[in-house]
Amino acid sequence: MPAIDPRLLYLSIPEMDADHERLVAITNKISAIVEQPEFRQKDFSAELRALKDYTLKHFSAEEAYMAKIGFPKLAEHKVQHEKIIEALATLAAEGPTKGARIALSLRLFTQVWLFEHISGHDAEYAKFAKANT
Ligand SMILES: [Fe+2]
Ligand SMILES: [Fe+2]
Repeated sequence: MPAIDPRLLYLSIPEMDADHERLVAITNKISAIVEQPEFRQKDFSAELRALKDYTLKHFSAEEAYMAKIGFPKLAEHKVQHEKIIEALATLAAEGPTKGARIALSLRLFTQVWLFEHISGHDAEYAKFAKANT
């Protein structure tokens, strides 16, 4: 699977774009780890932790931003964030025992789900911001 180009996900909100870029960078690293001929659990665990920490940080910053601009679908968006955090926690809990298999699911999860979230749900508040600020 090719690396994601973060420019495809730009929302024209610099602070959110910077966060998304960082998330995409971690995802691309995870992708590279999965593609190594020999799976390195230590590298994988470190990136998984980074992904979890940064996702939490980003979601709270993003929720604060949506509150600031008065985005009407904030509650709904929060539910989406919670679902992603739950899925990440499950993957993180299984990481040390299932190794390479979890790395594969995580790659899919981040590439597909996070990508869809940013270009779908996040794009909605960006549209609102443009129209209302
Ligand atoms: Fe986001
Ligand atoms: Fe979001």
